[in-house]
Order: sequence, then structure tokens, then C-alpha cells
Amino acid sequence: MRETTLSSKYTGLLARFYDEDSRWHDYEAEAAWIRRECRHRMRAPRARLLDLCCGSGSHALVLARFGYRVTGIDLSPTMVRLAREKVPPRPRKEAPSFHRGSVLQIPKNLGPFDGAYLLGLSILVETIFDRVGVLARRVARVVAPGGFFLFDAHLGSSHPHTPPRGAATYRVDGIEGSLRISEVRRRADRTYHYDWALKRGRWALGLHAAERLKILRGSDLAAVVDGCLESGCWDHPRVLHPPQTKSGYRLVALVRKAAPICHGC
Ligand SMILES: C[S@@+](CC[C@H](N)C(=O)[O-])C[C@H]1O[C@@H](n2cnc3c(N)ncnc32)[C@H](O)[C@@H]1O
Repeated sequence: MRETTLSSKYTGLLARFYDEDSRWHDYEAEAAWIRRECRHRMRAPRARLLDLCCGSGSHALVLARFGYRVTGIDLSPTMVRLAREKVPPRPRKEAPSFHRGSVLQIPKNLGPFDGAYLLGLSILVETIFDRVGVLARRVARVVAPGGFFLFDAHLGSSHPHTPPRGAATYRVDGIEGSLRISEVRRRADRTYHYDWALKRGRWALGLHAAERLKILRGSDLAAVVDGCLESGCWDHPRVLHPPQTKSGYRLVALVRKAAPICHGC
């Protein structure tokens, strides 16, 4: 069980489960946040976008349908394979591409991009949350001056992505089952504890995971934003409250400084 933040290990069956679970997420609405950000400042919809921690490609595939040129990067080989499998063989617009790798070590030759986004609360992935400054510098290296970096955060009192308890049926690797989410408990240490299991018959299937999702306080979010600003690469932070989502959800957008200031990034 993780003590804080999200696990970075979305591989194998857990990745397939996450992908199945994605039907509970409104990726169209979330992709609209990115489209709005692009319309603010650039030549949408041909903008080049970097999907950080792209998972199984849900945001990238929506944005590609609108004509954006999207590159996804994710640590999990299973996630990358699932994302690639979803790319239509003859896409009407440009197909997204997906790469396996860490957002903390983005290859320089992947860019340049007009903007980058990190969604699905991936800022809370344990290894990323602890190294926001590194992330900020790595992203700045591949985003063009004036481009944006957008991520989501959660300050609320309910888990934003929990499907209705007991209502979900899944089919993962040929196994059909239903999801059980235990009571989501808010703890004194400002984490949610939630666990889930895939049920088949009398709980015969031993797939079970438990994680804690850290609740950010306003000051935590400010510290993350400060970490980005201290990198010297980003400016103009804006905290947004996306209208389509439950309360507690925030979007943070930063703009890449125009001057070539990223010495040693
Ligand atoms: C909560 S999921 C979000 C996936 C996707 N963005 C979405 O919203 O559906 C977190 C993702 O981060 C990936 N991940 C974790 N650590 C990473 C790292 N250092 N670099 C790239 N991807 C990472 C995991 O493999 C997983 O796919």
C-alpha cells in the first residue's frame, strides 16, 4: 500500500484495468480545457502538443480527432501499447504518436511543442510530485517560448474519479468482473484511502489494490507552482476552476518564458 500520492506502476493488468475504467472519465470535456488553452494563444487546431503521462492515450486521441498533432509519453509499456492499439489505421487527421519514457527524462529531440499537459492528477504520481522542479525544466526544454504547461490538481473533499460503487462491470484480459470500491475515507494526514478489487464469483479473483490519494491543500498547490516558477522557465501561473468538474478540481496553467532562460535544463 502506498503511503502518499499515486503509484507510478501502471503496468500489466492494472494498466488494462485503468484503461477500462477510463469510460468513467469525461475525456472530451478535459480535452476541451486544452483546446481552450490553445485557442488563447496559438494556431489551434494544428498546435503540437505533448501529453505527459499519457496513459492509454485518451486525451491524445480526442485532440488528434480535432487536428492537433499530439505526442504522448508514458513510463508504462502496457499503457503505451494500449494507446497505440487505439490509433485508427487510417486516421482522418494526423495520428497521435506514443513513446515509452519518463517525463523526468524527456528526450530533447521530441519537441518543439506549442504546449504540454499533465492530466489525470498525474502531478500526484509519487516520483513526479517530489521532483516538480525537474519536471518543469524538462518540459520547458521541449516547449517553445510562449507555449503552455497545464496540469490538473485536486483540493476537494471527494475523489473526482471514483465510479459509482458496485455499479461497474469490467472485462479485463478476458475476465469479466465487477468493481468494488470501498468506502473512500478521508484521513487526518490529508490522504484519501480507497481500495478496489475486481470481483468474480465469490471474490475469487485476486486482483486487489489499495492506494492513497493525497489531497492537496491550497498551500501544497502553491508549493508545486512555486517549484515550477523557481525553475526559471515558467511564468504567468493561472489557477482555473474547470466548470464541468466537481468542486475541488483545479487546473493550473503556466506559460513558458519567452527569453531563452533555461540554462542547464
Ligand atoms: C493517473 S494515470 C493518468 C493517465 C492519463 N493521463 C489519463 O488521464 O488517463 C498516471 C500515468 O502516469 C504514468 N507515469 C507514472 N510515472 C511516470 C513517469 N515518470 N513518466 C511518464 N509516465 C509516468 C503511469 O504509467 C500512468 O499511465
